Amino acid sequence: MARASGSIKKFSRVQVVFHWVYGGSWIILALTGLTFLWRGDPTEPAVGLGPLLQGSVGQTLRLVHRIAAIGLMTSPLIWFLGDPKSVWPDLKELFSFGKRDLKYMLVAPLYYTTGRGQLPPQGKFNGGHKVNFYVVFTTYFTFIGSGLVMWLGRGTVSDGAFHVAQLIHSLSFFLGSGLFLLHVYLTAIHPFTRRSLSSMVNGWMELQYARLDHSEWVEREIRNGTAQIRGVEGAAEAR
Ligand code: HEM
Repeated sequence: MARASGSIKKFSRVQVVFHWVYGGSWIILALTGLTFLWRGDPTEPAVGLGPLLQGSVGQTLRLVHRIAAIGLMTSPLIWFLGDPKSVWPDLKELFSFGKRDLKYMLVAPLYYTTGRGQLPPQGKFNGGHKVNFYVVFTTYFTFIGSGLVMWLGRGTVSDGAFHVAQLIHSLSFFLGSGLFLLHVYLTAIHPFTRRSLSSMVNGWMELQYARLDHSEWVEREIRNGTAQIRGVEGAAEAR
């Protein structure tokens, strides 16, 4: 099918860099963290991946986990310091969840699996993006809080507190991992939505796709004169 040319700027370069620093750190943390869950009974000989967690390999994985944790913890500074003007408008939209978003969440499962139903017009972020953001936002703090207790509190906090931290860390991991897989599937594989990926690579989204999935946002940007559109006759070429 021929596609109308033209694209609209959705994210700044700084936001794209922030997204990938956060995502890259998260993937390293998930892969190294997964190996920590493979703890056999300490009274039995280690099996499977167990021996890897002892000795220098285990020490290296723990060090890599801590370095990636620093990357994840500090990554929001890239956005806050690099592109402060976009912080408030984007966070304001992400934190407002209205009837339209609820309807989106109710219709989306059927729509994305069978193509039936009609999604309501969406803003810059659809209901699914918002729910994904709420989980990322919440687990950012639960990971940091529980991770720092395990990192700095060993021997200082009580065994009970240490185990609670481990439990919170593991629950955040399972919740976050499920959503991470869905996020990758929808943005890189699903035929209806994979065209959104370019906006997190170079900041630009196909105008035709944006009009379909973010019509309310596109109309608003055009109305306010803030839309950056390129590749369409008559539109001012933007950076
Ligand atoms: C960003 C702040 C984070 C800090 C400070 C942190 C720190 C830690 C520390 C100190 C441990 C204990 C490792 C050991 O046995 O020496 C740990 C375990 C673990 N981490 Fe993290 N981590 C963070 C984020 C993450 C993220 C984002 C994930 C996954 C996506 C993750 C997954 C895990 C898992 C699965 C474990 C094993 C939990 C358990 O022992 O029950 N961590 N983390």
